[in-house]
Amino acid sequence: MKALILSGGSGTRLRPLTYSQQKQLIPVANKPVLFYAIEDVIKAGAKDIGIIVGPNKEQVMDTVLSVGWDANIEFIHQGDPKGLAHAILVAENFLDDDFVMYLGDNILKGGIESHASRFRDIRPDALVMLTQVAEPQRFGVADLDAKGNIRRLIEKPKVPPSNFALVGIYFFKPVILEACHKIKPSWRNELEITDAIQWLIENGYKVEASIVGSWWKDTGKPEDIFEANRLILDDIQAVNRGVSEGSKIIGRVIVDSDSVVKNSIIKGPCFVGKGCTISDAYIGPYTSIGSGCDISGTEVEDSIIMDGSNIANAGRIVESLIGRNVRIRESECKPKGTRLIVGDNSDIML
Ligand code: G1P
Repeated sequence: MKALILSGGSGTRLRPLTYSQQKQLIPVANKPVLFYAIEDVIKAGAKDIGIIVGPNKEQVMDTVLSVGWDANIEFIHQGDPKGLAHAILVAENFLDDDFVMYLGDNILKGGIESHASRFRDIRPDALVMLTQVAEPQRFGVADLDAKGNIRRLIEKPKVPPSNFALVGIYFFKPVILEACHKIKPSWRNELEITDAIQWLIENGYKVEASIVGSWWKDTGKPEDIFEANRLILDDIQAVNRGVSEGSKIIGRVIVDSDSVVKNSIIKGPCFVGKGCTISDAYIGPYTSIGSGCDISGTEVEDSIIMDGSNIANAGRIVESLIGRNVRIRESECKPKGTRLIVGDNSDIML
């Protein structure tokens, strides 16, 4: 089985971060979201992985290739993002075998191995993964019969027939290529994978569903990223590779190498990356701090702070998503007031 991982798209709901970085590279518990997908497909036995890249393709390629993977990785350029079925068509030459398609902004606890075995055992033309969600209108939704068989799949229905959403991980036989060629663009002018699978159903092909028991997140919006960060941090084990002076480190906290924690309190679950300095600070639960950050005189809780950021005497920061190399500090000059140099589409709550 091959794997096709999607890491294109413009990530509009995560602006301004996605002006400068591809959404699938946003770190969750200090690891790019995309890496969770790569690890999952490798664990499920994929040896050949195609990664669809778009706007920030060099960044995605460099990040992926900075790590050694136990698989062959090929990058496939999508050009304009015209939908998930369009991504399959772009990868047509690569997809000469059964494959799993994994949206690179999805995170699934528990991996995909059991679903991959089910696909290999029952050999349907497509196996989709479903999970119950609170807002099905945000997703592709399955209409199921009393036995749990799929009757119909609809993309973002105004009136959902159930609360079973399509998880962004699909197993296909190559016949899906024919379906992707047959369908027409949707109202949002995209070739929808949901419509391609619906085409399989209407043309007598076998489409099976696998229910996801553990948590799943599509990290399309900041609140989904916070939630994924909390869920991953909930499973970490305490490791201290740094130096702690006059500080209290409570609960499950990772402090990575070359980091120094001085006169501070860190209350887990938390992850402090490599080469950070935390001084006179409080770092509260569900915070991930990237490498090379300097945090002093500040309280931070339930937040993600990316590599190289510097925060000094900034009061109390909660539920915040802070990009790379950001500087936040107390103003020392007059007149007193909030001074902001902020990118387009930023979201600030004072
Ligand atoms: C896509 C699919 C949708 C699926 C979702 C899962 O939505 O079209 O059917 O439920 O991924 O993440 P999109 O991210 O394009 O809105």
